[in-house]
Amino acid sequence: MAELSFPPGFVFGAGTAAFQIEGATRADGRGPSVWDAFCAEPGRVEGGDTGEPACDHYRRWPQDVELLRRLGVDSYRFSVSWPRVLPTGAGAVNRAGLDFYSRLVDGLLAAGIEPAVTLYHWDLPQALEDGGGWRARETAHRFAEYAAVVAEALADRVPRWTTLNEPWCSAFLGYGNGVHAPGVRSGTPALAAAHHLLLGHGLALGALRAAGVREAGITLNLDQVYPATPDDEGAALRARTQRNLVWTEPLLRGRYPAAEADTWGELIERQDFRRDGDLAVIAAPMDFLGVNYYTPATVRTAPHREPDPARRDATDNRFAHVRDPRARHTAMDWAVAPDTLRELLVGLREEYGPALPPLFVTENGSAEDDVPGPDGVVHDADRTAYLEGHLRAVAGALAAGVDVRGYYVWSLLDNFEWTYGYGKRFGVVHVDYATQRRTPKDSYHWYREFVSRHSARS
Ligand code: NOJ
Repeated sequence: MAELSFPPGFVFGAGTAAFQIEGATRADGRGPSVWDAFCAEPGRVEGGDTGEPACDHYRRWPQDVELLRRLGVDSYRFSVSWPRVLPTGAGAVNRAGLDFYSRLVDGLLAAGIEPAVTLYHWDLPQALEDGGGWRARETAHRFAEYAAVVAEALADRVPRWTTLNEPWCSAFLGYGNGVHAPGVRSGTPALAAAHHLLLGHGLALGALRAAGVREAGITLNLDQVYPATPDDEGAALRARTQRNLVWTEPLLRGRYPAAEADTWGELIERQDFRRDGDLAVIAAPMDFLGVNYYTPATVRTAPHREPDPARRDATDNRFAHVRDPRARHTAMDWAVAPDTLRELLVGLREEYGPALPPLFVTENGSAEDDVPGPDGVVHDADRTAYLEGHLRAVAGALAAGVDVRGYYVWSLLDNFEWTYGYGKRFGVVHVDYATQRRTPKDSYHWYREFVSRHSARS
């Protein structure tokens, strides 16, 4: 392939999240999270899978740091488990939990890898959920307190901090259609959750600043939306508003989108959970915006329907997703269309201009039906092609003048894919959950080569 060009200092990384890899859900004083409770409810997660054993990363982390070192990445994006640090979400700090992350950070630095911390990747302490979870305004304040605790312990060694990962999922899958923990199906409370997540982000940003953090932002799952036919432009606008603008407008412009009367933004504006001054907190300047991207969305007009827990998009109002029969689909049944990532990044720049902070692609990768060959290795040419296509898209966005600072492959390891359990594998390293043996896939070796050719460090 033709060589792609990345600017000096461009960060190549790999990512994971606490609940998806750590296991050890009862070790060293960790409290229960909403995902522990959700997994324990029959029928919630495929195969009855739970956060045990995951990748047993809590005990095997040195081996995983070594895999990262050999991969040659500049940075590792991981999340801190709130209930490990504060077992009931607030109050006394669990030193053992915090020390785990401190050791991990030291291990990464010793291996020459820059740690990038995400404070919230969906594992809300169950005790906070019992008090209303993200439906309750207090949770935003508890989140800021937790951010302060973690920052106090790690800010001297961790340069890059993300408050929330994909708050859309927390609000609309957690409290809208209920396919994610805590599994609540509702309407307005999901909007309250969205607002309180944003408020929590803004308050946590303040806590990070107070602890001396200089590089802080949020990670959103933004959709690149296309109308299925020219008649579906209205549906596409609605989808963009509900999926993207309800986050980017308050964060980057200090207002909710009100382009149409039936968007979440408009609805949030009218609710009494919104208080004067909130939007100023939410819109505090960020140093970067993280974008998680996997697949485009093609939508058509659809009648309004009530939440249907069987469908991931069931909280969407008056649009429906259309499957593109021409595209290859991954094991998640997600269409592979890499250039749409370039279009998304360029579109953000066009929409927000100087108000757009530098971007990181904080997640990108594919689940494939990986089967180790007779040699014991997964030969995942489809995943490699997926990654290569999306890295090309990032290079294309850079060439078009978009300030993209880095790219993190999802994921370092096969792991717990939420509602899908362990059946869906996103790793560039295969994990045999029975033995906990890690085996790099072909895509790991491909990415290692790619990073060594393109990283300024090598
Ligand atoms: C988004 C989430 O942040 C991550 O936890 C998940 O595994 C991947 N996307 C794949 O679905």
